[in-house]
Amino acid sequence: MTTASAPVPVAVLVAGAGTNLQALLDAFGGSTLARIVRVVSSRDGAGALERARRAGVPTVVLRNPDDADELVRALGDARLAVLAGYLKRVPPAAVARFRWRLINIHPALLPDFGGRGMYGRRVHEAVLSSRARVSGATVHYVDEEFDRGPIIAQWPVPVQAGDTPESLAERVLEAEHRLLPLVVQELARRGVPQEPVKVSVQQTDFDGSTERRKEDA
Ligand code: GRF
Repeated sequence: MTTASAPVPVAVLVAGAGTNLQALLDAFGGSTLARIVRVVSSRDGAGALERARRAGVPTVVLRNPDDADELVRALGDARLAVLAGYLKRVPPAAVARFRWRLINIHPALLPDFGGRGMYGRRVHEAVLSSRARVSGATVHYVDEEFDRGPIIAQWPVPVQAGDTPESLAERVLEAEHRLLPLVVQELARRGVPQEPVKVSVQQTDFDGSTERRKEDA
Protein backbone atom coordinates (compact mmCIF):
# COMPACT_ATOMS: atom_id res chain seq x y z
CA MET A 1 0.00 0.00 0.00
CA THR A 2 1.30 3.47 -0.79
CA THR A 3 0.41 6.53 1.19
CA ALA A 4 0.30 9.95 -0.42
CA SER A 5 2.99 12.15 1.10
CA ALA A 6 2.67 15.87 1.73
CA PRO A 7 4.14 18.26 -0.86
CA VAL A 8 7.82 19.08 -0.32
CA PRO A 9 8.01 22.52 1.32
CA VAL A 10 10.17 24.82 -0.82
CA ALA A 11 11.62 28.23 0.09
CA VAL A 12 12.70 30.62 -2.65
CA LEU A 13 15.45 33.20 -2.10
CA VAL A 14 15.16 36.32 -4.22
CA ALA A 15 16.39 39.86 -4.69
CA GLY A 16 15.06 40.91 -8.09
CA ALA A 17 12.00 40.93 -10.32
CA GLY A 18 11.10 37.37 -9.42
CA THR A 19 10.15 35.99 -12.82
CA ASN A 20 11.70 32.63 -11.88
CA LEU A 21 9.77 32.72 -8.62
CA GLN A 22 6.64 33.32 -10.71
CA ALA A 23 7.43 30.28 -12.86
CA LEU A 24 7.65 28.19 -9.67
CA LEU A 25 4.45 29.65 -8.23
CA ASP A 26 2.65 28.90 -11.52
CA ALA A 27 4.07 25.39 -11.76
CA PHE A 28 3.33 24.31 -8.18
CA GLY A 29 0.11 26.21 -7.46
CA GLY A 30 -2.00 23.09 -7.12
CA SER A 31 0.77 20.50 -7.02
CA THR A 32 0.85 17.56 -4.65
CA LEU A 33 4.63 17.26 -5.17
CA ALA A 34 5.99 20.60 -4.00
CA ARG A 35 4.70 23.80 -2.48
CA ILE A 36 6.32 27.23 -2.25
CA VAL A 37 5.97 27.92 1.45
CA ARG A 38 8.05 31.06 1.86
CA VAL A 39 9.98 33.67 -0.04
CA VAL A 40 13.10 35.17 1.49
CA SER A 41 14.59 38.37 0.10
CA SER A 42 17.89 40.06 0.76
CA ARG A 43 16.33 43.32 -0.36
CA ASP A 44 13.22 45.20 0.60
CA GLY A 45 11.39 46.42 -2.49
CA ALA A 46 12.29 43.41 -4.66
CA GLY A 47 9.53 42.84 -7.24
CA ALA A 48 9.59 39.18 -6.24
CA LEU A 49 8.09 40.08 -2.85
CA GLU A 50 5.00 41.49 -4.52
CA ARG A 51 4.61 38.30 -6.58
CA ALA A 52 4.82 36.24 -3.38
CA ARG A 53 2.25 38.40 -1.63
CA ARG A 54 -0.12 38.12 -4.59
CA ALA A 55 0.18 34.35 -4.36
CA GLY A 56 -0.43 34.43 -0.60
CA VAL A 57 3.05 33.11 0.22
CA PRO A 58 4.68 34.43 3.44
CA THR A 59 7.72 36.65 2.89
CA VAL A 60 10.78 37.55 4.94
CA VAL A 61 13.25 40.36 4.25
CA LEU A 62 16.63 39.56 5.79
CA ARG A 63 18.14 42.20 8.06
CA ASN A 64 21.62 40.80 7.54
CA PRO A 65 22.12 38.26 4.71
CA ASP A 66 25.56 37.38 6.15
CA ASP A 67 23.96 36.09 9.34
CA ALA A 68 23.66 32.31 8.91
CA ASP A 69 21.31 31.90 11.88
CA GLU A 70 18.94 34.52 10.57
CA LEU A 71 18.92 32.91 7.13
CA VAL A 72 18.36 29.39 8.48
CA ARG A 73 15.52 30.71 10.66
CA ALA A 74 14.00 32.43 7.63
CA LEU A 75 14.10 29.17 5.66
CA GLY A 76 12.12 27.54 8.45
CA ASP A 77 10.89 24.03 7.69
CA ALA A 78 11.71 24.18 3.96
CA ARG A 79 13.20 20.90 2.73
CA LEU A 80 14.49 22.53 -0.44
CA ALA A 81 15.68 26.12 -0.89
CA VAL A 82 15.96 27.67 -4.35
CA LEU A 83 18.07 30.73 -5.13
CA ALA A 84 16.28 32.55 -7.95
CA GLY A 85 17.95 35.87 -8.56
CA TYR A 86 19.49 35.95 -5.07
CA LEU A 87 22.85 37.68 -5.36
CA LYS A 88 24.33 37.45 -1.87
CA ARG A 89 26.79 34.80 -0.84
CA VAL A 90 25.07 32.20 1.34
CA PRO A 91 27.03 32.02 4.62
CA PRO A 92 28.95 28.70 4.91
CA ALA A 93 27.06 27.62 8.06
CA ALA A 94 23.77 27.94 6.17
CA VAL A 95 25.22 26.06 3.18
CA ALA A 96 26.28 23.25 5.53
CA ARG A 97 22.84 23.13 7.12
CA PHE A 98 21.18 22.87 3.70
CA ARG A 99 23.82 20.68 2.00
CA TRP A 100 22.35 19.24 -1.24
CA ARG A 101 19.09 20.99 -0.46
CA LEU A 102 20.11 24.42 -1.70
CA ILE A 103 20.08 25.08 -5.46
CA ASN A 104 20.66 28.08 -7.72
CA ILE A 105 19.73 29.05 -11.26
CA HIS A 106 22.39 30.77 -13.36
CA PRO A 107 21.85 32.35 -16.80
CA ALA A 108 24.74 30.65 -18.65
CA LEU A 109 26.30 27.23 -19.11
CA LEU A 110 28.46 26.81 -16.01
CA PRO A 111 31.30 26.32 -15.27
CA ASP A 112 31.85 29.06 -17.88
CA PHE A 113 30.63 32.59 -17.27
CA GLY A 114 30.06 32.24 -13.54
CA GLY A 115 31.69 33.35 -10.32
CA ARG A 116 31.69 36.45 -8.16
CA GLY A 117 30.29 39.48 -9.96
CA MET A 118 28.96 37.44 -12.88
CA TYR A 119 25.28 38.23 -12.83
CA GLY A 120 22.70 39.99 -14.96
CA ARG A 121 23.85 41.76 -18.12
CA ARG A 122 27.52 41.04 -17.43
CA VAL A 123 27.00 37.32 -17.99
CA HIS A 124 25.49 37.82 -21.44
CA GLU A 125 28.09 40.44 -22.40
CA ALA A 126 30.83 37.97 -21.50
CA VAL A 127 29.18 35.21 -23.53
CA LEU A 128 28.87 37.47 -26.58
CA SER A 129 32.43 38.77 -26.36
CA SER A 130 33.77 35.21 -26.06
CA ARG A 131 32.04 34.39 -29.37
CA ALA A 132 30.54 31.26 -27.80
CA ARG A 133 27.91 29.81 -30.10
CA VAL A 134 25.76 28.44 -27.33
CA SER A 135 24.69 29.86 -23.99
CA GLY A 136 21.96 28.50 -21.75
CA ALA A 137 20.66 28.02 -18.25
CA THR A 138 22.19 25.98 -15.42
CA VAL A 139 20.68 24.72 -12.18
CA HIS A 140 23.32 23.66 -9.67
CA TYR A 141 23.83 22.96 -5.98
CA VAL A 142 25.07 25.86 -3.90
CA ASP A 143 28.31 25.30 -2.06
CA GLU A 144 30.79 27.66 -0.43
CA GLU A 145 31.93 29.22 -3.71
CA PHE A 146 29.91 31.30 -6.17
CA ASP A 147 28.49 29.21 -9.04
CA ARG A 148 30.78 26.23 -8.36
CA GLY A 149 28.58 23.52 -6.83
CA PRO A 150 27.75 20.33 -8.77
CA ILE A 151 25.55 20.87 -11.80
CA ILE A 152 22.07 19.33 -11.68
CA ALA A 153 20.74 20.25 -15.13
CA GLN A 154 21.42 22.55 -18.06
CA TRP A 155 19.53 23.69 -21.11
CA PRO A 156 21.28 25.17 -24.14
CA VAL A 157 20.23 28.39 -25.86
CA PRO A 158 21.99 29.02 -29.20
CA VAL A 159 23.52 32.46 -29.64
CA GLN A 160 22.08 34.13 -32.74
CA ALA A 161 23.79 36.46 -35.18
CA GLY A 162 23.09 40.02 -34.10
CA ASP A 163 22.28 39.06 -30.50
CA THR A 164 22.64 41.83 -27.94
CA PRO A 165 23.02 41.15 -24.21
CA GLU A 166 19.32 41.97 -23.90
CA SER A 167 18.07 39.67 -26.66
CA LEU A 168 20.20 36.80 -25.41
CA ALA A 169 19.11 37.43 -21.80
CA GLU A 170 15.48 37.27 -22.87
CA ARG A 171 15.81 33.85 -24.52
CA VAL A 172 17.92 32.47 -21.67
CA LEU A 173 15.33 33.70 -19.16
CA GLU A 174 12.59 31.86 -21.05
CA ALA A 175 14.67 28.70 -20.78
CA GLU A 176 15.19 29.33 -17.06
CA HIS A 177 11.44 29.55 -16.53
CA ARG A 178 11.04 26.07 -17.97
CA LEU A 179 14.16 24.42 -16.57
CA LEU A 180 13.85 25.50 -12.94
CA PRO A 181 10.34 24.10 -12.30
CA LEU A 182 11.31 20.84 -14.02
CA VAL A 183 14.33 20.42 -11.75
CA VAL A 184 12.39 21.31 -8.60
CA GLN A 185 9.67 18.88 -9.63
CA GLU A 186 12.17 16.08 -10.18
CA LEU A 187 14.04 16.69 -6.91
CA ALA A 188 10.70 16.73 -5.05
CA ARG A 189 9.61 13.54 -6.80
CA ARG A 190 12.81 11.87 -5.61
CA GLY A 191 12.24 13.13 -2.05
CA VAL A 192 15.11 15.68 -2.23
CA PRO A 193 18.05 13.24 -2.30
CA GLN A 194 20.71 13.65 0.37
CA GLU A 195 23.48 13.47 -2.20
CA PRO A 196 24.08 15.38 -5.44
CA VAL A 197 22.07 14.12 -8.40
CA LYS A 198 21.76 15.00 -12.05
CA VAL A 199 18.41 15.54 -13.69
CA SER A 200 18.15 14.84 -17.37
CA VAL A 201 15.62 17.06 -19.07
CA GLN A 202 14.12 15.86 -22.33
CA GLN A 203 12.97 18.14 -25.11
CA THR A 204 9.39 16.90 -24.67
CA ASP A 205 9.39 17.78 -20.93
CA PHE A 206 10.90 21.13 -21.75
CA ASP A 207 8.32 21.93 -24.45
CA GLY A 208 5.52 20.45 -22.35
CA SER A 209 6.29 22.75 -19.44
CA THR A 210 5.46 25.76 -21.61
CA GLU A 211 2.33 24.16 -22.97
CA ARG A 212 1.12 23.49 -19.43
CA ARG A 213 1.82 27.07 -18.45
CA LYS A 214 0.01 28.40 -21.53
CA GLU A 215 -3.02 26.29 -20.68
CA ASP A 216 -3.00 27.73 -17.15
CA ALA A 217 -2.68 31.32 -18.32
C1 GRF B 1 17.93 35.12 -13.56
O1 GRF B 1 18.54 35.34 -14.80
C2 GRF B 1 18.72 34.11 -12.76
O2 GRF B 1 19.37 33.16 -13.54
C3 GRF B 1 19.76 34.96 -12.10
O3 GRF B 1 19.08 36.16 -11.78
C4 GRF B 1 17.99 36.36 -12.68
C5 GRF B 1 16.78 36.51 -11.83
O4 GRF B 1 15.67 36.95 -12.52
N1 GRF B 1 20.36 34.27 -10.99
P1 GRF B 1 14.25 36.92 -11.81
O5 GRF B 1 14.36 37.75 -10.53
O6 GRF B 1 13.88 35.51 -11.52
O7 GRF B 1 13.31 37.57 -12.78
